[in-house]
Amino acid sequence: MKKRQLGVVVMAAGKGTRMKSDRPKVMHKILGEPMLAYVLAAARALAPEKIVIVAGHGREKVEKAFGGARDIEFAVQEKQLGTADAVRAGMTRLKNFDGDVLVLSGDAPLIGPGTLRKMIAARKRYDNVLLAADVDDECAYGRIVRNNDGSLNRIVEALDASPEESEITEVNAGMYVFAAQDLGYALSKITNHNRKKEYYLTDAVGILTGRGKKFGVVTADDPTEIIGINSRDELADATYFLNRRHIERHMRNGVTFWSPETTFVGPNVKIGRDTEVLPYCVMVGEVRIGRGCEVGPFSHLRTGAQLDDAAEIGNFVEMKKARLGAGSKAKHLTYLGDTTIGKKTNIGAGTITANYDGKNKWPTKIGDNAFIGSGCILVAPVRVGSRGMTGAGSLVTRNHDVKPGEVVVGVPARPFKKAGR
Ligand code: UD1
Ligand code: CA
Repeated sequence: MKKRQLGVVVMAAGKGTRMKSDRPKVMHKILGEPMLAYVLAAARALAPEKIVIVAGHGREKVEKAFGGARDIEFAVQEKQLGTADAVRAGMTRLKNFDGDVLVLSGDAPLIGPGTLRKMIAARKRYDNVLLAADVDDECAYGRIVRNNDGSLNRIVEALDASPEESEITEVNAGMYVFAAQDLGYALSKITNHNRKKEYYLTDAVGILTGRGKKFGVVTADDPTEIIGINSRDELADATYFLNRRHIERHMRNGVTFWSPETTFVGPNVKIGRDTEVLPYCVMVGEVRIGRGCEVGPFSHLRTGAQLDDAAEIGNFVEMKKARLGAGSKAKHLTYLGDTTIGKKTNIGAGTITANYDGKNKWPTKIGDNAFIGSGCILVAPVRVGSRGMTGAGSLVTRNHDVKPGEVVVGVPARPFKKAGR
């Protein structure tokens, strides 16, 4: 049988009133990446035909961050009239589409591709599918109402639920796989007759089961996958769980973390086996760490940081767009930005690469087996050749390259001449 086509609609137009923010909700960051980026990564893992982002509130910011990708199109929802209205806007970019439509929420970034695949697979047995999880009854999620025979009846929003319905602990994740035809039909029937006067996508469930359509419920293996973020409090919870998930992946691959609780690792960090991460480190953006490295305590790796095998960084060392070669060390109080460092080089305590002149960023290049003394400032652009040495407290000024094997000292740094010459 031919594989059904898959289109994805990501609802991302809401303001996120409870965030109390000037930023659209889906642009709030988790470990350095906007929450929408996590949702898109999960969607992309399924290799869909197309991903439609429904943007509205602050949509320029969303388009700026995610525009330009070949697989992404934007739809605009001018007024945020509810989730059904958002999907209606999204479907204008999937006209005459006849496959499956996966609907995701831009504010639910913990969803993983494994669960989404389970939902799509369940479409073999059901006309439409939704994702649910078991949580406690205090929550604000829509409740799953079942018939006596256990089949799905409808979803009732927390605000509209009766006291008995509020007791239900099986809740709606806000993620669905619809047959495009069924979705189109349901969208044409949904009204805004409810407490919030919004067009609820959840009403599609009752409408379709009422027409005899079989609606399947897939339960998330990990209930944290359904977390929806509506407040800063939930943003912190999501950060906690995603961080833990990233760190567990690295631990499974052979990386040691002294203290997962005090270490923060973004989704695009790669770490080789037998690397040891000491407490209080932050690694966000595109970061690559080789095998057998030591990181921390208190290290900050920002985007473009790279440690080759057996490199070491320690207390209060920050790296950004900087590569530390194999076996090289920067153990204390150092900033390395726009810098390339060769093998087996020692960067002394308190070294600063001054990469920014107030207008532009400039590169620093340091060769193999070099020795940068304590408390040096290297004003970029500048190079230190292999086996080059800078004495403690030197100020190496821009374009005053240190030649291979040369020793410089002083402020400004000059070639070192032995006394009594
Ligand atoms: C929704 C579900 C609820 C479910 C919960 C899971 C509805 C009516 N309710 O509630 O059953 O338990 O998600 O997290 O669908 N959005 C738009 N345009 C709009 C309104 C919302 O794009 O007009 C976007 C929001 O930006 C957000 C997503 O849709 O990313 C969900 O909207 P939100 O208002 O947060 O829905 P919930 O009240 O959480
Ligand atoms: Ca929500």
